[in-house]
Amino acid sequence: MSHELFDKIAELRAELEATNPQNEAELEQFRIRFLGTKNAFKDLTPRIKELPNEEKKNFGIKTNEALQAAQAKFDQLQSQFARQESQETNKFDLTANAYGLPLGSRHPISLVMNEMISIFERIGFTVAEEREIEDDWHNFTALGTPADHPARDMQDTFYLLNDVEALLRTHTSSVQIRVMGKQKPPIRIIAPGRVYRNETISARSHCQFHQIEGLFVAEGVSFADLRQTIYFFAKEMFGATQIRMRPSYFPFTEPSAEVDVYWGLNSDTDYRITKGTGWLEILGCGMIDPQVLENCGIDSQKYTGFAFGMGVERIAMLKYQIDDIRLLFENDVRLLQQFQSAGY
Ligand code: DAH
Repeated sequence: MSHELFDKIAELRAELEATNPQNEAELEQFRIRFLGTKNAFKDLTPRIKELPNEEKKNFGIKTNEALQAAQAKFDQLQSQFARQESQETNKFDLTANAYGLPLGSRHPISLVMNEMISIFERIGFTVAEEREIEDDWHNFTALGTPADHPARDMQDTFYLLNDVEALLRTHTSSVQIRVMGKQKPPIRIIAPGRVYRNETISARSHCQFHQIEGLFVAEGVSFADLRQTIYFFAKEMFGATQIRMRPSYFPFTEPSAEVDVYWGLNSDTDYRITKGTGWLEILGCGMIDPQVLENCGIDSQKYTGFAFGMGVERIAMLKYQIDDIRLLFENDVRLLQQFQSAGY
């Protein structure tokens, strides 16, 4: 047992015990030195023949013991380092719930508009959309409002580039003219869209807003049909049990009416918004003036029709109790988020 090879093994064993890798790189050095394919013990192996036979077995045992010690130390350090690393990673709580993706919401104007559309679709109306930049003919003249007509003062117009021909439509009634110019009766459409007027912006008025126009042209359409259509809408939209029609004037309808729905007087708000009457004006309407039909190439002897138009903001403000129209155009997310789970 006094052979130099045993001293060598003892030295290597001492070195192995004294080596304490502090990190993965040092552990790799340790592995190469004591466990790698060219490890320090292998250098000794060929010299086994220098030993007398009875010592050979002992040499093998000592070498194996040292290799096993090296392997055990390696395994233990390797898992220790892996644990440390994962603790560092665990500064993050991997089991925490992920944040949900922020969900968008529909704008209150879209919600109201979609609800209106779906009510009219149920009674056979289809949606028609048209341009917002119009010409004088479609926005005014064909609708019974030539240049010198006093009714033009009802709507202050934005003209484009000092061009009296191109303008931003002041109402969706222009869509009536476009559609009647292209389609043959029977025509039954609603036209939702944006309109513009040169008005001072305040809590009650804005220079841009939305309207929905309705148009029904066919043989034998009567004022009774108009009234029933509006009644159906008021019932579905507001749960209204009564409507009333007041005579009014529009250049493109004859006779013309404004429609009020019975809103009720159940709260202070009801008194305020109905000015103490319980009635709320919701739209303008009338039988299409025969001259308007003729302007679009429709035979006014054969066909009659009705039309109506209403503001969407006003109805959205009533429905959602918003008392300043500007809120509907500012797109403050704090307002919009409140409509997150609303339908339509
Ligand atoms: N265009 C009108 C406005 O903007 C609303 C209107 C009234 C539309 C009567 C109509 C109608 O179709 O028949 O004030």
